[in-house]
Amino acid sequence: MSHQYQLPPPEAVESLLTWYRKNARDLPWRKDVTPYRVWISEIMLQQTRVEAVKPYFHRFLEAFPDVYALAEADDTRLMKLWEGLGYYSRARNLKKAAIRVTEDYGGSFPADYKELQKLPGIGSYTAGAIATIAFGIPAPAVDGNVLRVLSRVAGDSRDIMDPHTKKSAEEAVLQLCPARSPGDFTQAMIELGATLCGPNTEPCCASCPMGPWCIASREEKTQVLPVRSKKAARRIEHRTVLLLKEHDRYMIRRRPEKGLLAGLYELPNELGTLDRDQAVAFARENGFQPLHIEMLAPATHVFTHVEWHMTAYLMTGYFEETQQRIMASAEELAGKYAIPSAFAAYVKPITKGT
Ligand code: ADE
Repeated sequence: MSHQYQLPPPEAVESLLTWYRKNARDLPWRKDVTPYRVWISEIMLQQTRVEAVKPYFHRFLEAFPDVYALAEADDTRLMKLWEGLGYYSRARNLKKAAIRVTEDYGGSFPADYKELQKLPGIGSYTAGAIATIAFGIPAPAVDGNVLRVLSRVAGDSRDIMDPHTKKSAEEAVLQLCPARSPGDFTQAMIELGATLCGPNTEPCCASCPMGPWCIASREEKTQVLPVRSKKAARRIEHRTVLLLKEHDRYMIRRRPEKGLLAGLYELPNELGTLDRDQAVAFARENGFQPLHIEMLAPATHVFTHVEWHMTAYLMTGYFEETQQRIMASAEELAGKYAIPSAFAAYVKPITKGT
């Protein structure tokens, strides 16, 4: 049983566009609109707030001003520029897609909604955003913001986590998308869903350009729409993190090529809450002889599917054998190696002031 979104009339879309043109936030990727800039910004904005993205966007474009520069990016530098944004496969896919664009498309993004989706890391949302915003081609760009707006305007109570709902939303948004201004329409829907009709706040229906046509507003259902099925509960993982300090350098290691935070660098850590003696044993397994041991404050980090509850020890001492290991100075921790934010509670105190 499938049904369709009850679409608002064309006046509602006109009202939305007028509102957007008057109220659009001044955001860096809205200037100098090119497929490359739209692509980078949309990938960064997945799962990450606008304010957090801004400085990353500037640094990234300075380092990799075009698709050729990105295709040739040094991996360590690329990951360092992404450090803190999370979901690191996004950065790896950016480089893969850049290589494909230079090799298979002569350096220019394909101006085609379906073709764009063949590139690594570009799904239907990003393809829709690039097609509409950068190329002015009507296409649906449906992310969480847009699903929220549409569910409310249409008074639709289907589960927005269900892929069928998203498919149906894409059909609806394509129908609504005006041929004259697809880019403004996409941005306006996103903007509305990020501001007046935002998540975690009471929507401002009185100022909303689509308020007069909004079923959720009229029927006082903004509290219950959109409907979102419960996510699986996060698993809690206890970990013990070691800062093994020899002279002014700290041991780090590279994470495996597969899985969570693949290929990034990290402080040595192990599952479980180790007491002091166990932590010393773990340090010795790494060839380290501690002379001084300090227990640090516990810290937590929340990932999508797991939460790390960390215990940590700072140990000063020396390494016994000359095994292969990476020792990083405070400057290198700050400027060279990409270390996921999960370790920030322990890395920040070292790198601050570098
Ligand atoms: N979130 C996702 N895409 C966006 C954009 N283009 N502008 C502002 N917020 C966004």
